[in-house]
Amino acid sequence: MTNPYVEAYRLSIADPEFFWGEAAEDCFWYRKWDRVLDNSNLPFSRWFRGAEVNSCYNALDLHVDTGRGDKIALIYDSPVTNTIRKYTYLKLRDQAALFAGVLAAQGVTKGDRVILYMPMIPEAVIAMLGCARIGAIHSVVFGGFAPNELATRINDAQPKVIVSASCGIEVNRVIPYKPMLDQAIALSKYPPERCIIMQRPMAEAELIPGRDLDWAREMANAKPQPCVPVLATDPLYILYTSGTTGQPKGVVRDNGGHMVALKWSMKAIYDIGPDDVWWAASDVGWVVGHSYIVYGPLFMGCTTILYEGKPVGTPDAGAFWRVISQHKVSAMFTAPTAYRAIKREDPKGELVKKYDLSSFRTLFLAGERSDPDTIQWSERHLQVPVIDHWWQTETGWAIAANCVGLQRFPVKYGSPTKAVPGWNLQVIGDDGNLARPGQIGSLVVELPLPPGSLMTLWNNDQRFIDAYMYEFPGYYKTADAGFIDEEGYVYVMARTDDIINVAGHRLSTGAMEEVLAGHPDVAECAVLGVADDLKGQVPVGFLVLNAGVTRDPQEIVREVVQRVREQIGPVAAFKKATVVKRLPKTRSGKILRSTIQKIADSQDYKVPATIDDPAILPEIEVALVSMGYARARN
Ligand code: COA
Ligand code: AMP
Repeated sequence: MTNPYVEAYRLSIADPEFFWGEAAEDCFWYRKWDRVLDNSNLPFSRWFRGAEVNSCYNALDLHVDTGRGDKIALIYDSPVTNTIRKYTYLKLRDQAALFAGVLAAQGVTKGDRVILYMPMIPEAVIAMLGCARIGAIHSVVFGGFAPNELATRINDAQPKVIVSASCGIEVNRVIPYKPMLDQAIALSKYPPERCIIMQRPMAEAELIPGRDLDWAREMANAKPQPCVPVLATDPLYILYTSGTTGQPKGVVRDNGGHMVALKWSMKAIYDIGPDDVWWAASDVGWVVGHSYIVYGPLFMGCTTILYEGKPVGTPDAGAFWRVISQHKVSAMFTAPTAYRAIKREDPKGELVKKYDLSSFRTLFLAGERSDPDTIQWSERHLQVPVIDHWWQTETGWAIAANCVGLQRFPVKYGSPTKAVPGWNLQVIGDDGNLARPGQIGSLVVELPLPPGSLMTLWNNDQRFIDAYMYEFPGYYKTADAGFIDEEGYVYVMARTDDIINVAGHRLSTGAMEEVLAGHPDVAECAVLGVADDLKGQVPVGFLVLNAGVTRDPQEIVREVVQRVREQIGPVAAFKKATVVKRLPKTRSGKILRSTIQKIADSQDYKVPATIDDPAILPEIEVALVSMGYARARN
């Protein structure tokens, strides 16, 4: 008997045009493509060249027009405001059409950028789809980023309009968004013409006359807009993600390829059909939110849950089970850190027993490595398959997974299973050759990338080439290191750059170092991600002070912690730093990060032969122990 995964994988690599051309038949096109795949300008592959499409139409109107308008499209479940609100496809379509009218009234048209700085409320989804409806390019900025990060994104995307809300809610704290937005606009070189603000009753914002408009008032007066056909190759959105510097990368996603890949993935990877209730417990500010809170499930025509809450504390570690049982969720997707948080509060899984989870079929985890403990705890208490899968903001959907909609393979703990159809995943060893099974190297994807992956970086084709395509010609560099075993199971070990994953949030230690280096008393610094039981990794800073600084080092530490919070945001979770006399370096002046990392993670390490002064390592070790890391040696 043929294995559907094996057959799909083989075909997707041998004949990608046929494979994705077939998948595309599942979507609605105003005009079909001239070519499925245009590789004439590699590495800039283009999918469905010549086709005309609309992502909002495929997410909403299509279901209404095929008689499924009464189906629940979105359930807003917000324990922090004690609200549950349901939107049918018809209602969500009408809201998106009205919001498109609000944007059109401000002169927003196809190709204009609109930044969304929003908490997890339905208006965020409505705004995204309203943009897509008229061909405007949305760029959602995660609410946990500070004004400075928002300003950087405003400068790069140069939006005509910014959409925001008066506040977000973090467990039981109200976080006013509007002052942060105002500050970001004040810092930016390209202030938007208009801001549209959704007023939430917990903290109403003061609007700036002439610039700020009230969401509710504008919606009440808006004229609904029809869907505008755009080219399949036109951008749908820009999503900024951490790069190796303070300047984030603006990942650009197209309309056509994205739609085809995501709709296909809902069934093939997640085994979700139109009758299912699907829940991605993430945030619309991240790629998981884009692909699997909003677009993927809506393209599929199923019900998606928008959850404004946390795994613990809203109100307790049974929150996930409450949502699953109350809305009869078929499958959920979240980051392992969320399950670690639950496991820590309810190690025996007592709260699981209180709920009827009979609808629940599968748990999917991604965003960081899934540790075997967490997977096994979840398997034991939920009694469903727990599927680790690996992807990136750039790829838009999974590179490696156990595709339960095709063929589920036995789990090997520590592996996100196999390359997903479409992804010609390879490993390149240190010698520059393709690695043998089991040999660690750089995980790369042979070009062309499948539909749905990044087209380029916004306004920066050269950075796209330099960051992803240059080092291994003919391949996309994932910047993850790992290996593939004899049976094709993929193992993702570590990033090869300075990206760290803190509670499933992607952050750059380089960007944090830029902030620390800006402190007037700091001569030199290093930030590393060290292992953390809850968040996977947390950043820790090492500071060398300028000669002659006599201030209390603890005071300086407090100041740099505050700086990172103010300049990057609370999401960086940068809470620990220490002052040292020197940083360990090689004789050529390179900071020995991997040695510090090993000490921090209590791993055995060898004193590198190239170190300029081995005497510095014990000082680093003592500093780490005093911060609660590393093992004290006798
Ligand atoms: N707006 C404003 N502030 C935000 C925010 C938002 N949208 N999201 C997070 N923050 C703040 C938090 O309040 C916290 O601030 P604090 O330092 O003042 O306490 C800080 O940013 C860090 O937040 P978080 O990473 O959520 O850590 P936490 O300690 O509050 O909670 C977990 C830990 C594990 C419960 C939480 O990280 C979680 O639920 N993770 C799920 C992961 C996830 O959704 N990943 C997305 C990819 S799939
Ligand atoms: P992001 O762009 O925020 O999705 O982060 C992408 C990075 O997170 C990847 O490059 C990996 O380093 C890491 N990552 C995501 N999913 C996994 C996984 N399942 N296993 C290991 N690492 C992962």
